Amino acid sequence: MNILILGGGGREHSLAWAVKQNPKCDRLIVAPGNAGIAAIADCADINILDGGAVAVFAEENAIDFVIVGPEAPLASGVADRLRAAGLLVLGPSQAAAELEASKSFTKAICDAAGAPTAAYARFTDADAARAHIREQGAPIVVKADGLAAGKGVTVAMTEAEALAAIDHMFDASNDMAGTTVVIEEYMDGEEASFFVLCDGKTLLPIGTAQDHKRAFDGDTGPNTGGMGAYSPAPVMSDAVTQKALDEIVAPTMDEMSKRGIPFQGVLFCGLMIKEGQPRLVEYNVRFGDPECQCLMMRLGGQILDLMQACAEERLDEIQVNWADDHALTIVMATKGYPGSYEKGSVINGLDSQPEDSFHMVFHAGTTEKDGQITATGGRVLNVTARGATLAEAHEKAYAMAQGIDWDEGFYRSDIGWRAL
Ligand code: AMP
Ligand code: GLY
Repeated sequence: MNILILGGGGREHSLAWAVKQNPKCDRLIVAPGNAGIAAIADCADINILDGGAVAVFAEENAIDFVIVGPEAPLASGVADRLRAAGLLVLGPSQAAAELEASKSFTKAICDAAGAPTAAYARFTDADAARAHIREQGAPIVVKADGLAAGKGVTVAMTEAEALAAIDHMFDASNDMAGTTVVIEEYMDGEEASFFVLCDGKTLLPIGTAQDHKRAFDGDTGPNTGGMGAYSPAPVMSDAVTQKALDEIVAPTMDEMSKRGIPFQGVLFCGLMIKEGQPRLVEYNVRFGDPECQCLMMRLGGQILDLMQACAEERLDEIQVNWADDHALTIVMATKGYPGSYEKGSVINGLDSQPEDSFHMVFHAGTTEKDGQITATGGRVLNVTARGATLAEAHEKAYAMAQGIDWDEGFYRSDIGWRAL
């Protein structure tokens, strides 16, 4: 089977690494890929937001299966375009990708499905939004309606913060998704990520994780795309997992099918759990990054069979084989991230890191120049390890991170603290 993975981050490196272990995988191409991916697959420089270009490339390269990593191509309809060309694809249609692309769409689906989530109101008028905030008081959560790369959410602990977020979102001079905001009830509890493959009929849970969104130790500093993760999430007990499936995921999927937009792909449920009751924070329509890196380390090559069964609507025929193990990933980022940072710093010490089914340094933002690996992004490396316990995975991953010599990089020293 010839496989094309779209994307070029740590998530896609881990997907490529796992898929490659499956004997079914013949040729593996990743577009655009990165320096780490180039060591295990061919990289192709195509515009992954252009469905037509991807379809032509897939045809020219005799691709049998396309796996879409990030949300942007899904939101712009790349999966639809590829399916129309007769390709097998993992990833939802543009219409079903609204579950991530539009917060108000998701809220409406949850209402119709009776799925527990925060109470909300939707505004296109700044004054009405301000009045609602004054009436509800803080804490309260203000969200821009569209895709905003994790930057469109303000969890306001004071009324002033919430009002400032409204000023910002309705300010015409910034390019936030802006003019529509969703204002939500603040939910407290413990957050977890729950990943479910859905083929439009059958649901197959493929793991849980917790990530660390803040930049610095002790969950301080600005919000990021994620500074580390571990799997499984202890808060996702069997009982909580079953509740999340029965009360949130299954009714959502039924509602999507009822509306004629069945969801096929990876459903990433961001949950808030309090006293054993999960509530939905948000849906994403793809694997989490860096959560995926932990899941791939635990699942290995079987993920290709699972993703293929999902794309072929055969999830009812397949099951996941779980080892009773744990994985943890540490994100190494360029100093300055998530603000501005310099590109091009050299990373040493990667050659001496172990690479096997228990240890991998996945690349997120790297390129190779004159035989040296240099940093090209904010999040640059994902140092990932697996162990019989979380403590063992933690110890192995930190030992690897310490062996990487990169002055311009930083990482959190407390990934997994809540579970350890
Ligand atoms: P989202 O992009 O919707 O996932 O929001 C980003 C983060 O904001 C979430 O991971 C939560 O930590 C936090 N958040 C979002 N909505 C709420 C809410 N209603 N109550 C508390 N925290 C929230
Ligand atoms: N780590 C969170 C995300 O991928 O959205």
